This record gives sequence, structure tokens and C-alpha cells, in this order.
Amino acid sequence: MKFFVDTADIKEIEALTETGLLDGVTTNPSLVAKSGHSNFVELIREISSIVSGPVSAEVAATDYETMMEEGKFLSKIADNIAVKVPMTPAGLRVCKNLSYDGVMVNVTLCFSAAQAILAAKAGAAFVSPFVGRLDDIGSGGMQLISDICQVYSNYPDFKTEVLVASVRSPEHVVQAGLLGAHVATIPPSVIRQLFKHPLTDSGLAQFVEDWKKSGQTIL
Ligand code: G3P
Repeated sequence: MKFFVDTADIKEIEALTETGLLDGVTTNPSLVAKSGHSNFVELIREISSIVSGPVSAEVAATDYETMMEEGKFLSKIADNIAVKVPMTPAGLRVCKNLSYDGVMVNVTLCFSAAQAILAAKAGAAFVSPFVGRLDDIGSGGMQLISDICQVYSNYPDFKTEVLVASVRSPEHVVQAGLLGAHVATIPPSVIRQLFKHPLTDSGLAQFVEDWKKSGQTIL
């Protein structure tokens, strides 16, 4: 199971890279705006030099011609760029053409299994179903992941990876793993939560105390 971090914050990406557990990065226009960076292209260039795995960079346009131009431009920033396009007819047309040219494409804003089938047929490297936003409207985000994983497993020629997005909790990550999703893109705060368990903290405190009592050193 791959972990991407869902952020455009360079400091967070650098810190999480140090864990050795990060397989990629996803950004979106909202995350870029939140980062405060004023040069999107330079931001993506920097992120893709920090992380060796896929870095999703989203087109800004919504019409086919401009999305194609933006997608081609973004794909040339670095070898590990995944061009992110919206789940629209024009976005899927861009996906089909860029994928044919060997560019990784992430189809975003997926909210149904039908849309995920279209993304796979368009040759997407990744499809991003937004589980948290579905949960927000009482629609069962993880059921969608289950459905997509099941449909994709029926068609081995579908090479699209299920990238669970809009993750809000460690539970979402575990559920994604139980369902066999290929990737979870996770906000930095939730990645940090994954490490935590109160029994780990209390157990370690006990070990440290008992070791002191033993009066020994290893080095
Ligand atoms: O990057 C796409 C997705 O992860 C956004 O999540 O929390 O804005 O619904 P959220």
C-alpha cells in the first residue's frame, strides 16, 4: 500500500520524506492556494525534486484545448509528474491523450464507480475517489472504494490505481488497506496520527524507566 501526502507545503513534505514512508505527493488548487506560494510551476518543480515518487499537479483550465496544453507543460517539469485532470468528459479526453503519450494522469473528483470505470478506460494511472467529501454528505465514502476495487479486479487489463483521497482519519487509511486500495493520499496531520497509540506511549515510558533502573548502557 502506497502513502502519498496530500499537501503543497514544502516543509511538511520535507519532514515526512524523512520518515522514509512517503511514496508520492498530491496537490490541488486549494492546497496550492493554502501553501501561500505564488509560483505554482516552481512549487511543483521543488516538490518533484524532493520526492522520487509521483507528484500530482493539477491543470487549472476546464476546456479540452487549454487542459491539454497545461498538462503537456506540467508533465515536462519532471519525470515523476502525474498530471491531475478533473472527472469531466474533457478531462477524460485529456487523460486518454496524455496517457497514450506515456504521461501519468490522475483523474480527480471521482464520486462514483461509474466515473472510476471511465477513468480506467481512459488509461488513467490513478483515479481519486474522495471518501471524506462523500462521508460529509452521508454517502459512505468507503463503500465507493469497495465498489471500485471490486470492479477493477474483474478487469485485469485495467491498470488504473485506486488512490483514496479526501482522507480524514487513520480509520479511512485502514479501511482503504482492508479493501486493497493501491494508494491513500493523506493529509500530514493524519499521517502523524497513524503513528500514535496510547499503549505505545505508556509502554515506551515504562521501558525507559525500567532500563534506567537496570543501570546499564548499550554503547
Ligand atoms: O487532493 C484531493 C483531496 O484529497 C481533497 O481532500 O479534504 O479537500 O476533501 P479534501
